[in-house]
Amino acid sequence: PSNTGRVLSIQSHTVQGYVGNKSAVFPLQLLGYDVDPINSVQFSNHTGYPTFKGQVLNGQQLLDLIEGLEANNLLYYTHLLTGYIGSVSFLKSVLEVVDKLRSINPNLTYVCDPVMGDEGKLYVPEDLVSVYREKVVPVASMLTPNQFEAELLTKLRIGSETDGRKACKILHAAGPSKVVITSINIDGNLLLIGSHQKDKEQAPEQFKIVIPRIPAYFTGTGDLMTALLLGWSNKYPDNLDKAAELAVSSLQALLQRTLNAYTSAGFDSKSSSLEIRLIQSQDDIRQPKLTFKAHKY
Ligand code: ATP
Ligand code: PLP
Ligand code: MG
Ligand code: NA
Ligand code: MG
Repeated sequence: PSNTGRVLSIQSHTVQGYVGNKSAVFPLQLLGYDVDPINSVQFSNHTGYPTFKGQVLNGQQLLDLIEGLEANNLLYYTHLLTGYIGSVSFLKSVLEVVDKLRSINPNLTYVCDPVMGDEGKLYVPEDLVSVYREKVVPVASMLTPNQFEAELLTKLRIGSETDGRKACKILHAAGPSKVVITSINIDGNLLLIGSHQKDKEQAPEQFKIVIPRIPAYFTGTGDLMTALLLGWSNKYPDNLDKAAELAVSSLQALLQRTLNAYTSAGFDSKSSSLEIRLIQSQDDIRQPKLTFKAHKY
């Protein structure tokens, strides 16, 4: 167990607002990690706004940065974290980065949020799906798909808790010893399912957390959730359930604060996606009050 680490985080950057690295770097720092961000894109704002402008990093440019770090012996990381990736060529460069980092630290933990879509809609090019399934999942240590992404990766339709648990087992067999399906929609509520395969010979330890759905739409929460799961699961390496309780408790406190801020400003929270109150929630990130309980199966 380690309280700290050095994380290479390859994610989006937005000038305004909190998604990607903007949503992951600050909380990881608050939890005591050194975080080195590589910005896979730099956009003015997230893509849910009517318009956005900016630049996209290509795979070769990613490898250039890695080469620069390597040339100075700066490529020792305990963790690699990746989120939204927009092209097959960039994803293939990320795979090269995984190999390179593991050649320097064989114990590198690769936390992968296989961002591909949500609620039945794909928002990356379709040819990314098989690369995630066949090349990325096998090298990931921890995977944090949502329901739709877990379906794409396992080719299993997830309509129940049992299906969610089965999907986790399929994913374990393919690679990662830790899997958190960050939400499954079940009759109006959200269900998180966590699964830790501690021993290849035995069934994984599995648990669920029931999360009431807040009637609003937030951005940056998936990226924040994965960052918190990385942060806490490294501190409690044998208690994924505890790590998930802490991550969910922080995130839900932040979502309530976000909702309250919009509501008290007289804003209709259902009319557009809400920017999370990340900085204002720093105490909830550093010292979450445990308000959510994991139930072991
Ligand atoms: P997921 O499908 O788990 O939601 P995702 O990658 O699609 O993963 P988000 O949709 O942003 O990311 O959600 C991440 C987490 O944020 C969820 O696990 C849930 O805990 C929380 N969350 C997001 N939206 C809501 C909401 N409206 N009400 C309650 N919790 C939410
Ligand atoms: N990255 C970028 C550039 C985005 O525009 C968005 C959402 O619009 C995200 C990431 C996704 O954020 P999340 O899935 O965490 O809500
Ligand atoms: Mg979602
Ligand atoms: Na997720
Ligand atoms: Mg997501």
